[in-house]
Amino acid sequence: FEKYIPFQQIKLENREWPNNVITKAPIWCSVDLRDGNQALVDPMNMEEKIEFFHTLVDMGFKEIEIGFPSASETEYEICRELIEGNHIPDDVTIQVLVQAREHLIRKTFEAVKGAKNVIIHFYNSTSTLQRKVVFKTDMEGVTKIAIEGAKLIKQLTDEYTGDTNFRFEYSPESFSGTEVENAVYICDKVMEALGSTKENPVILNLPNTVEMCTPNTYADQVEYFIKHIKNREACIISLHPHNDRGTGVASGELALLAGAERVEGTLFGNGERTGNLDIVTMGLNMFTQGVDPKLDFSNLPKLREIYERCTDMKINPRQPYIGELVFTAFSGSHQDAINKGMQYMKDSGTEYWEIPYLPIDPADVGREYEPIIRINSQSGKGGAAFVMSHNFGYDLPKKMHPEFSKLVQKKCEELGRELIPKELFEVFSENYLEV
Ligand code: KIV
Ligand code: ZN
Repeated sequence: FEKYIPFQQIKLENREWPNNVITKAPIWCSVDLRDGNQALVDPMNMEEKIEFFHTLVDMGFKEIEIGFPSASETEYEICRELIEGNHIPDDVTIQVLVQAREHLIRKTFEAVKGAKNVIIHFYNSTSTLQRKVVFKTDMEGVTKIAIEGAKLIKQLTDEYTGDTNFRFEYSPESFSGTEVENAVYICDKVMEALGSTKENPVILNLPNTVEMCTPNTYADQVEYFIKHIKNREACIISLHPHNDRGTGVASGELALLAGAERVEGTLFGNGERTGNLDIVTMGLNMFTQGVDPKLDFSNLPKLREIYERCTDMKINPRQPYIGELVFTAFSGSHQDAINKGMQYMKDSGTEYWEIPYLPIDPADVGREYEPIIRINSQSGKGGAAFVMSHNFGYDLPKKMHPEFSKLVQKKCEELGRELIPKELFEVFSENYLEV
């Protein structure tokens, strides 16, 4: 990441601009195995979840929400296997989700017995709409549910005889659809009930459960919340953006600038409906601005392979950093600028990555730059020769270019379409290699 120019150094029109940028990585929490998994047509089985868990650990995640163990036997068993099978390194904390309901909380404590580090993540919905339409209750009603949940969690932790290190997280679900002063009110009460302190802070997770407004509005809500929560020192402010308006990452970035310190999300943005915040995009956005994301993205193709196999989801060709087409350049002028950038880097010995049209060095994420030369009946003489050289290592003499180009054009006309590089090689081989 050091080779990318920190964004604050870029000055536009002689202004000190921008004045607020992300300068360090948040605490990341992957919710792939819970929010991501619950939104799959076919949820992951035990082997897939274990493999995915190890992948997340290898990337450097220290907090991983592994599931909802009180929700089903399968989820319970997976939680037990992770613990009993010694899959969890000592410096990794597993997080388990539970509704603020007595029998589910009790079952959750059973599920995590023997784990070294656990975050019990409890939630209930607080939004205006859910209160009116689903729960038919008022703010006092939902606050009572949260306080009772918090008290029971505190009691079960005090009674616990093992040596698990417990921490707590509370989510006022649909935070962004809740009157923000009500969200502050309920979280103040939860903190009191849990007895949160600076030494043992609660994670207050502020979900943009359904992304219903522009990123700056979510960030404003988070900022208001941070300013008004009574005991700021005794809590860690966590974000949980979803992507319904397609701006999950932007919401996370702005809300981080508003003062949050933790971010929940998933690889490639898997999750309910349009997904959760995409941690790969957000992390690499930091990386390309000279900030260490503290997660290892150096082999994205491998991550993609594991992700696609375990989730049975496909990555969009234009998905930032990993889509098939994001390191291709189709336009001749882009290719020219990229070549000039590469030459400039060689000649100048600059310490920064300074190549137009490539915001990141593809090699940093285990990929390669691919100039795409269109090979059709309209292409110039140089295009076919370039592909022969770049893709196949044949440097054709200049004198040969017009003749070879004619053969290629003839083939395109016969087929009525452009050629892929392999077909181009066949034209070459038929005419010059095969006797
Ligand atoms: O999106 C959401 O609100 C959630 C909560 C359960 C944290 O996933
Ligand atoms: Zn969610």
